[in-house]
Amino acid sequence: MVSTHPARVQNSARQYLSSDRPDRSPNQQLLPLTARANSQDSLEIGGCEVTALVQQFGSPLYILDENTLRTACQQYRQALERYYPGAFQVLYASKAWSCLAVCAIAASEGLGIDVVSGGELYTALQAGVSPEKIYFHGNNKSVDELNFAIEAGCRIVVDNWWELQTLVNLSATYQQQKSNLDAASETALWTSTETKTQILLRFTPGIECHTHEYIRTGHLDSKFGFDPNQLDEVFTFVSQQPTLQFLGLHAHIGSQIFERQPHRDLAPVMVEWCSKAASYGLPVAELNVGGGLGISYTEADDPPSIEEWVKEVAEAVAAACQERQVPLPKLLCEPGRSLIGPACVTAYTVGSQKVVPEIRTYIAVDGGMSDNPRPITYQSQYRAAIANKMSAPLTETVTIAGKHCESGDILIKDIKLPPTEAGDILVVMATGAYNYSMASNYNRLARPAAVLVNNGEAHPILQRETYQDLLRQDCLPERLI
Ligand SMILES: Cc1ncc(COP(=O)(O)O)c(C=O)c1O
Repeated sequence: MVSTHPARVQNSARQYLSSDRPDRSPNQQLLPLTARANSQDSLEIGGCEVTALVQQFGSPLYILDENTLRTACQQYRQALERYYPGAFQVLYASKAWSCLAVCAIAASEGLGIDVVSGGELYTALQAGVSPEKIYFHGNNKSVDELNFAIEAGCRIVVDNWWELQTLVNLSATYQQQKSNLDAASETALWTSTETKTQILLRFTPGIECHTHEYIRTGHLDSKFGFDPNQLDEVFTFVSQQPTLQFLGLHAHIGSQIFERQPHRDLAPVMVEWCSKAASYGLPVAELNVGGGLGISYTEADDPPSIEEWVKEVAEAVAAACQERQVPLPKLLCEPGRSLIGPACVTAYTVGSQKVVPEIRTYIAVDGGMSDNPRPITYQSQYRAAIANKMSAPLTETVTIAGKHCESGDILIKDIKLPPTEAGDILVVMATGAYNYSMASNYNRLARPAAVLVNNGEAHPILQRETYQDLLRQDCLPERLI
């Protein structure tokens, strides 16, 4: 029987439903925006009952709510429209979850895509994203990857001297070949802007965030980007390269950030470098402030909303430009976690339990560190609910263990749940970012399927791996047979 008594609701998984807080941004919610408890006391997302999804698509299962993802994309765009007086472009940082469907949804909402490898670039292109809306990052792009990016015609965010010099050589070769082809067809494109390799320069701005604190230093110990004291030399070099088209500057100060001040501080630092770049004949057309807005993984997390974050960033950039008399560049930001993180839950089936008297009760599920490596890697905290017992009082304190051969494979320590038995469906919240994209086959577990849910319909977007998939890349030399 479903209780609607407020005290019971507070002490049940219903407290996590976003319908109770419609005013909040997706990144401030633990469950996707469409999460509801139905008359069977069972969790629904996107109008689909979670237990039915598990029956149909298997377990564990990533369940991605299209409405939440689209809403987050729209909130970024609408806030930029409201608070930034110039042109803008939101990019989805696809490292958070790269697959065809997610890139296609982001692109259909007008977003570009930030990629950090040939694989992510290939995925974005195959999803139909226009190359000029793809930005290629990375501190050690290979020659193959650089050639791929040049030929695809995407933007390259140059990270270091080696890459810059390599890019000059590769671009010259590519453009020479192209010009030979063009000469054959009597169309000379050799020096046209479109043929040049479009670049941004990434630098370390001297602002470093560790989630709940940040520091400002002159020089940062970071593997990414040019050190600021290299920039004058870099600007001189870039201004002399006929094969490169300089578009602008990039900086990214960290991830899962709740503070506003670091983003306010970043703006004048970046704009000062815009002004310097212009003095080398390199006007900054695009200014990319990176991503980093945090999300709520537990009730204790209190990130700014998407709108608040954009307002801070946009107003700070516009004010710094006005102060320094720098023309307003196109403002780019590249959120990952805050777009996709809250849109997904992972559903697991509960299996064995182990009671260690007076110490702890372990409840084991059919996945773990292979589908969500964040708890073992970063000691990340999560919340979970039993999808088929949404109103049941949370009377037990238990620890959710994965099934891997690793003592540290614990998904959630000391969480409040109702009495739980084998076959119950446990839903871990806010697993859209850095879960599937960091998943592995550790212990030769097949990676889970993912479904996209919307308006009562569910469509697979990632097939569940099979045992045959696990062997696909294996080779057995004949002498071993
Ligand atoms: C360069 C860059 N841009 C964007 C992002 C996305 O950050 P987030 O997912 O925190 O928004 C990252 C993440 O580490 C990054 O390194």
